[in-house]
Amino acid sequence: MRRKLVAGNWKMHGSLAENEALLSAVLAGMGDVKAGVAVCAPYPYLAQVQSLLAGSAIAWGAQNMSQHAKGAHTGEVSAGMLKDFGCTYVIVGHSERRAIYGESDTLVAMKFAAAQAAGLTPILCVGETLEERESGVTEAVVGRQLDAVIHACGVQSLAKSVVAYEPVWAIGTGKTATPEQAQAVHAFIREKIRAQDAGVADGLVIQYGGSVKANNAAELFSQPDIDGGLIGGASLSADEFLAICRAG
Ligand code: PGA
Repeated sequence: MRRKLVAGNWKMHGSLAENEALLSAVLAGMGDVKAGVAVCAPYPYLAQVQSLLAGSAIAWGAQNMSQHAKGAHTGEVSAGMLKDFGCTYVIVGHSERRAIYGESDTLVAMKFAAAQAAGLTPILCVGETLEERESGVTEAVVGRQLDAVIHACGVQSLAKSVVAYEPVWAIGTGKTATPEQAQAVHAFIREKIRAQDAGVADGLVIQYGGSVKANNAAELFSQPDIDGGLIGGASLSADEFLAICRAG
């Protein structure tokens, strides 16, 4: 049985005061949460998040990292640095990084490999744009994004990762994929991996992301191949986030 994982992606939000208020409220409500829970914070707040969450049931991570281990890369942050602050997870290939910062499938695969080499669990984001969905190439796009990692790191590497299916048209738009739409792509992802390694496919946590809220999480998470969610906007409200965690 896969344990569901609900991860907050704070994006470029928060402050010392806001983070403390948010995390103390979330911690206080964790008693009846069965899913695994994590928050992915901006780099400067990782030390604060570590001190607030150490020893709790909530894991933490970052939203991006360098593909390099060290060196002359001004402004970049390595996986080893994230490990220094107790990170378990790191998001790689979020669609905002692919679209706004030009991250290619190849670069994302390099980040995935560098994360694992340092002992982090990458949360690999995949997903199609609206234009791609409407032209019927959703599976081709998601398949290509997965193949980049499989070719670079091998299918077994997915055993120590999380995949997040995030249709770009559903992110931050309030337009959630229907449970059926999401389930269809999740099943495609799992079947694609199953063709290469059934054990990896059965154990892989595949999150859904894109406008998950308290009022749609339970229906999404009840789909057979949806193993929790990657939560943007709703992870900034303790009540909303906790309600989503309880749906997992
Ligand atoms: P959203 O973002 O929940 O605000 O749509 C999800 C994400 O980008 O990970």
